[in-house]
Amino acid sequence: MASASAVPEVVLRHGSARPMPAVGMGTAEFPSTPERTRNAVLAALEVGFRHFDTAAMYGTEAPLGEAVAEATRRGLLASREEAFVTTKLWCTQCHPHLVLPSLRESLRNLQMEYVDLYLIHWPINVKPGPTVYPVKKEDAVPFDFKGIWRAMEECHRLGLAKAIGVSNFTTKHLDKLLAVATILPAVNQVEMNPVWQQRTVREYCAVKGIHVAAYSPLGGQNWGGYGNDVMESPVLDEIARAKGKSIAQVSLRWIYEQGVTPIAKSYNKERLKQNLEIFYWKLTEEDRLKISQIPQKKTVTAARLFYPDGEFTSVDLSDIEIQEE
Ligand SMILES: NC(=O)c1ccc[n+]([C@@H]2O[C@H](COP(=O)([O-])OP(=O)(O)OC[C@H]3O[C@@H](n4cnc5c(N)ncnc54)[C@H](OP(=O)(O)O)[C@@H]3O)[C@@H](O)[C@H]2O)c1
Repeated sequence: MASASAVPEVVLRHGSARPMPAVGMGTAEFPSTPERTRNAVLAALEVGFRHFDTAAMYGTEAPLGEAVAEATRRGLLASREEAFVTTKLWCTQCHPHLVLPSLRESLRNLQMEYVDLYLIHWPINVKPGPTVYPVKKEDAVPFDFKGIWRAMEECHRLGLAKAIGVSNFTTKHLDKLLAVATILPAVNQVEMNPVWQQRTVREYCAVKGIHVAAYSPLGGQNWGGYGNDVMESPVLDEIARAKGKSIAQVSLRWIYEQGVTPIAKSYNKERLKQNLEIFYWKLTEEDRLKISQIPQKKTVTAARLFYPDGEFTSVDLSDIEIQEE
């Protein structure tokens, strides 16, 4: 089994952040129960995970925080500082005056004094109100890059977010953000796996010193409603068989070899163990070539966040729904 100390770490640009372990555990599950999440996080801590991803929108902040506290009591963790915890600002809170209160609420849920990484969940701004999903199209409002990022910077200055970053940002969104940022984003968390390789965003982020984290690294949880092109990929299956690894491990290893940090969700202890065992073996040049030729298809789209009825009255969806391969 991979011990926590065997997991490589990535130093983020914001010096006060704990280095990010090179694989994270996701906690999005719909529907879920706090008990399931709490037990799964404890199992993940037992097998060696130290990097956890949640969001205000998932409803898993509280059980994640409870599991970290419980692990500290049990001596699995020497202290909370050993864990790397990411949470995210939901679209209804993407208003300058709501950013800091939202982070404080997330911290209350987590029972923590700081998060290691705070992300803007989407470059989408929705009228303030309770977190309802899907969002009504007519409630979308223009995204105030400068005002929201200033508030994120304040969260960092106050020490409540050791690092700040974004999620689901394309190069167009990053251009707008970087034009107004005083503190540059440390991370962009995007959908990435062998079926949606994100070459454009990765090249851009490499030049700008923004670390990329990959969500849905195993193709997600049938978010598109048509199965899973990663787990059902014949190319990945062939490579996995030849190596005596699972398809999941091949996908995670490929992401890691691209310099990206995969965030994989599993609530099953055996699969959690498997997802950590990606570090001390390699893909070959030929494997990488085959993977580079897999036809590309994005699964998670901004449009899926919205109710199909209703109208975009004040934003242009084409500003949000930019697909860059
Ligand atoms: N920023 C964003 O907008 C955004 C969007 C989506 C997700 N995320 C984050 O990224 C995390 C991961 O993405 P995801 O949840 O979409 O999907 P994922 O990690 O690509 O896939 C999760 C699915 O794969 C299964 N699985 C996990 N390990 C496996 C293995 N070794 N072999 C076979 N099946 C395995 C899981 O089932 P079991 O649990 O039964 O193992 C689950 O059904 C999320 O949980 C969330 O934290 C962020």
